[in-house]
Formats: sequence, C-alpha cells, structure tokens
Amino acid sequence: MSDLLAKLFPDHLRTVQARADAALARSGFDHLVIAAGVPRIEFLDDRPAPFVTNPHFKHWLPVTKAPGSWIVHSPGSKPKLIYLLPRDYWHVVPEAPAGYWVEHFEIAIIRQAHEAGAHFPKALARCAIIGEDNAALGDARPNNPESVLNYLHWHRSCKTDYELAMLRVASKLGVRAHRAAEAAFRAGKSEYDINTAYLNAVHETENELPYGNIIALNQHGAILHYTDLNRAPPAHADSFLIDAGANFHGYASDITRTHAAAHAGAFQELIDAVDTAQRGFVHKVRPGQNYADLHIHAHHVLAGILREHDFIRMTAESAVESGVSSAFFPHGLGHMLGLQVHDVAGFQKDESGGTIPRPPGHPYLRFTRTLEPRMVTTIEPGIYFIDLLLGDLKNKPQARDVNWTKVDAFRRYGGIRIEDDVVCTQGAPENLSRDAFAAAA
Ligand code: GLY
Ligand code: MN
Ligand code: MN
Repeated sequence: MSDLLAKLFPDHLRTVQARADAALARSGFDHLVIAAGVPRIEFLDDRPAPFVTNPHFKHWLPVTKAPGSWIVHSPGSKPKLIYLLPRDYWHVVPEAPAGYWVEHFEIAIIRQAHEAGAHFPKALARCAIIGEDNAALGDARPNNPESVLNYLHWHRSCKTDYELAMLRVASKLGVRAHRAAEAAFRAGKSEYDINTAYLNAVHETENELPYGNIIALNQHGAILHYTDLNRAPPAHADSFLIDAGANFHGYASDITRTHAAAHAGAFQELIDAVDTAQRGFVHKVRPGQNYADLHIHAHHVLAGILREHDFIRMTAESAVESGVSSAFFPHGLGHMLGLQVHDVAGFQKDESGGTIPRPPGHPYLRFTRTLEPRMVTTIEPGIYFIDLLLGDLKNKPQARDVNWTKVDAFRRYGGIRIEDDVVCTQGAPENLSRDAFAAAA
C-alpha cells in the first residue's frame, strides 16, 4: 500500500500546490501558512481535549498528530514543514518525520511552539494564515481569508488519485469492523460489547475515528445520533443499526448498515426494499446529477416503499408534498466525504463562494451541488419510526391516511439506514463501501 501511496503522492502534492497558488493569486496574498492546530484544554484543568488536525494541514501530508506544526507555502518554492518535536516528558512526542512524503518538503524541526514564528515569511500581512484562533503565535494570527478558503474548499471536493486510494483504505478498515460488529450482534452482545468488537477490529481508538460510533439496538435506531452504549444486552435484540467509519491518515469512511434478527421477517423485507432503493440512488451518482434533486427523488422512492408496505395509504407524490415522507426520512440523503466526515463546500455555488440553498422543507440536507467526477459522497437513505415525529404527524390531516397499526408495530425496530461512500466518475460510480464488503466476503 505505501508503495502505491508513494507513487501517487507527488501528483497529489502538485495539485494541492497549484490550487494554493491559484487561491493566493486570486486573493492578493503571497504566502499560505497553515496551522496544524493546538489541542484545547479542559476548563479549570490541564487535560487536553482530543486533538483534531486542521483539515487544510492534513491535505498536504499524511500527518494527523503533530500539534503545533505548520506548513508554509510560497509559490515557486518547495513547501516548508515546520515540525514541532517538543522537549516533553509528560506527553507523547510526535514521531520524527518519516515516510514517502518527507523528501517533498523542506523540514524545519522546532523544539518549542513559539520557535515556529522564526520560520514564517517576514511580511505577515502578505500571508493567508489558516487555522483556529487558538493557534495564533504572537502577531501571526489566523486570518482565514474567505476568498482563499472558498477557492480551496471548492476544489477540495474533487479528490486526487492519492486521496481516492486513501478513501478506499478507510472503507476497507470500516468494513472489516462492521463485519465484526454484526457477528457480535448475532451473538447477542450488548451495544457496549458490539462497540468493543468494532474497535478491536478497526484498530483505532474512539478519538481516532472520524466520528462517534452509532451502535443502536431495537428502538435506539430511531435516535439519529444515538451514541449511548447500553452495557446490558436487551432481552430481545430485534434490530441493529450501526453507523461507524474508520480513519486512514486523516481520510474518513462513513458506513451504515441495518440488520434484522432472524425472526424479524417483515422488518427484513423493509430493509431489503431500502437496500434496493439505496443501490438505485448510488447508480445515479453521475456527473451532472444535482444532489438536491437526487435527495427529492429519494423521498419519492421511499414514499413509494412506505405505500407498498402499507405504512401509508396515499400516493408517493402527496406524501412528499405534504411532508409525510419527511416524518419517516427526516435527514439528508448524504454529504461530501474526505478529510472530514462532513466535508466542506456542500452548498457552495462556485469557486468564489456563494450558496446554493436547500429545497424548502428539507432543512437537514448537507449537499446541494451538482456532482462532478472525483467527488465523493455518501448515499444514506433511511426509514425510521421516531415517536416525536410520528406524534406530530398524528396531529396533521394526513394522519388518516397512515396505517397506524403497522407503524406502531414497527416502532420497536427503531429504523433503517443504509449508507455507502461513493465516488463519482466519468462512468459507473465506484461504491467504496460495497466494494469493500464484497472483497471481505
Ligand atoms: N455518521 C454521520 C453521518 O452519517 O452523517
Ligand atoms: Mn454520513
Ligand atoms: Mn454515517
């Protein structure tokens, strides 16, 4: 794997540099300075919060654990890495720079955070400095110029070959752990023990994962971001919704599967229907497809499933128009994925900025752009039985066209979500998640 990454990295870096050059030229800055970041410290204590690297920093090199380090890019020069290797016997000190990427940087090792300043360009006013406020070093304060960020964020949506290789590995790691988690569910384990099985298989600590695992048995699947972990197994585990990913050198996977217990036949049929629909949506990940339109299309298809399975007794069209479909599918179809699990620029109009608004009535959609080759998106439709939203629905005129007996019988399963990570290509989409499941089987 590292041979492949070594081969792909120079082109990736050239692309990142060219984008930085263009962003600087458009914005009137001479240098790009990027802070890796500094961990936040717990209020009234000295315990650091889990460190999350600035995504702009890890776009340049596969280093995610180097707080206090910086990248300086000046067009025409080799990029400079200012690398903090502190004299510290309290904490783990980052590893000395090593690997395929090292030769592509001019590296300055510093021993104390403030020494970075000596390596910055002299004219700080000519620098676009990207980072969080707490990374400020004296007069070098992150200014995060919007024009620079907009340009970089827009172009970051299209991944290089190196980034696609990273994302393939992140999917493989996630899938390996999903399989271990499913086995733990089938063995009757608790949410806590299923999570432990996942962590053992993914070989990452919870802080290293790209987001908090959602390990939900039975009706917990109806809580979209359920992150509690019950220590005891339920008397009957009828359903299992798992939304969990992996991190590979700063690149994320984001995968959801829903499993039914062997005895939950009607629920399995509904899972199968959502699975078929989900594959259909994945198939539409093509250049020129607007993502908001795909989200609305998904509402129609899911409403059709609700009707076919006799949860509702109205047309799919009226279910979507009246908002009934949103009571069962109350989140967005997906989002861009990459250095962040919810990658930036999902609403951006063009490389200068701007916003493409969400369709009215869909406040949680995270992606309204039109797909292009090399974009990576999740496709994650769901059907849920959420007491809160069903309570609201009961007070609407459309309630009379809902088969409440069937709906009520399904509350115990919580819900269904099926989520894959998909690369838009010139031709058929590449499904990173399903490819990894197929390879592991
Ligand atoms: N795991 C978070 C999401 O699916 O967006
Ligand atoms: Mn997602
Ligand atoms: Mn997810």
